[in-house]
Amino acid sequence: MNVRPRIFFGFDFAVVILVCLVTASSGAAQAKNPYAGDAKVAKLGEFEFRANCAFCHGLGARGGGRGPDLTRTPKKHGDSDADIFNTINNGVPGTAMPPNGATQQGVGMTEEELWQVVTYIRSVEKKASTVSGDANHGRELYYGSAACGTCHMFKGKGGRLGPDLTGAGTARSTEYLTESLRKPSRRLAQGIIEAMKEFTEEYETVNVVTNDGTKYQGTLLNEDSFTIQFMDMREQVHSFDKASLKSLQKSRESLMPAYDEKVLPDKDLQDVLAFLVGGGQGGVK
Ligand code: HEC
Ligand code: HEC
Repeated sequence: MNVRPRIFFGFDFAVVILVCLVTASSGAAQAKNPYAGDAKVAKLGEFEFRANCAFCHGLGARGGGRGPDLTRTPKKHGDSDADIFNTINNGVPGTAMPPNGATQQGVGMTEEELWQVVTYIRSVEKKASTVSGDANHGRELYYGSAACGTCHMFKGKGGRLGPDLTGAGTARSTEYLTESLRKPSRRLAQGIIEAMKEFTEEYETVNVVTNDGTKYQGTLLNEDSFTIQFMDMREQVHSFDKASLKSLQKSRESLMPAYDEKVLPDKDLQDVLAFLVGGGQGGVK
């Protein structure tokens, strides 16, 4: 009478081990990238990347309107190949970074394709981004003569007309930041931390004249068919019925003044970037 239960016990045990082995090999990522350093595989990964990721992370993974520059090291969410694999597979909850398979097509990438993308990201990484500026002087400019702080929050201090720049130094490439300063209208900023939405509002410029003739200028916050919300130059938020306005114009001309070489010479620009990239810590040389 004792024999049968034992047999069943043994059988169950074997099944449990089998199940464990199967989940270990297919569910969780193996710790090592099987294609590390393989240039051919990186090319395949680039193809995947263009289809699924460039939309947010930009061509060449150098950062776009909605996703950070992935050529930066070390990565914020873990810098090993396995960490990057998991970030791509699981997404970053609470941010626009979707889990694998959650994009429009709804078709997830296979484990093999995920490793291809990881290999691609590795192939475009730049080793330790170097900004050769004086971060302390950058801070003086930021809050002083360059007046960035009148429009931009940095670590809780500054204005609100433009986007918060606390994370910009790590999320954006220096090329992107430089272009933002030299030619602000070329590519308008979008909310980067915004939850996944079909459309994120860009920082378009709004010019409004109300029925009693009052004029406002500001940055767009939100808009639907009937109403518009924007923040004016004094950081007042307005909401209007479009039908009640005498005129409403939107433009892609940024409210940020262009900082050309005369206003902000290259050396000063480097200092401001060093301040932003160094997270305001100072001393980044
Ligand atoms: C809808 C926009 C969007 C799409 C699509 C998207 N990402 Fe992201 N991704 C983000 C955002 C936003 C973050 C930053 C999350 C945070 O705040 O830490 C991010 C973060 C990451 C990170 C972490 C970077 C770090 O420093 O740790 C990796 C890696 C990454 N994405 C890879 C990818 C890959 C590969 C794809 C395509 C399969 C992809 N992303 C698709 C928006 C996106
Ligand atoms: C008069 C207000 C104003 C001033 C002054 C100003 N900015 Fe801006 N800035 C904006 C607005 C509005 C935007 C969003 C539209 C755009 O992308 O140009 C912006 C966008 C940016 C962006 C792009 C952010 C992103 O996520 O894409 C960066 C970087 C930036 N500003 C840095 C600076 C720095 C550095 C200074 C000082 C040298 C500065 N700004 C001065 C209003 C201002």
